[in-house]
Amino acid sequence: MAILKIARMGHPVLLQHAAPVPEPGAPEIRRLVSDMIETMVDAGGAGLAAPQVHVSLRLFVFRVPEGRGENRNDPPRPTAVLINPVIEPVGDAVAVSWEGCLSIPGLRAAVPRHATVRYAGVDLDGTTVQGEATGFHALVLQHENDHLDGILYPMRMNDFSLFGFNEELARYHSL
Ligand code: NI
Repeated sequence: MAILKIARMGHPVLLQHAAPVPEPGAPEIRRLVSDMIETMVDAGGAGLAAPQVHVSLRLFVFRVPEGRGENRNDPPRPTAVLINPVIEPVGDAVAVSWEGCLSIPGLRAAVPRHATVRYAGVDLDGTTVQGEATGFHALVLQHENDHLDGILYPMRMNDFSLFGFNEELARYHSL
């Protein structure tokens, strides 16, 4: 177990299109996922994608902490990994929520996302994982999946007046 260094916005690894994971259950992938979970928890994040720790592979870890999400009553979800994910929108509904990113420390923004998505991928045993997600769960899946395509949340924004430092936004908005 190790805490990994997190790449910050401006590092080119965050702009790369990541490669598929050839063997999800391989020992080095298990070690990477274990280290990513430790790194995410240490940094207080809700998600972490492999490119954020300088590994350009298509996998991410995430969780839905208690009390997160726009309506604060999304059911919490334990830490999970999604390898070689495919995320697709369900319907046209858009939800705008506050987002942060461990690669953009100290800042936060209101970002539009699909309200509901369908997801599929595999876990560390190579077992297919799939389902439908809404609320914070849908948001975190889209945010982390974007990292695998070199997309950071400012690239999804359409109102830059809702972009700022956590401390300032906390004073003037209900986050
Ligand atoms: Ni992020």
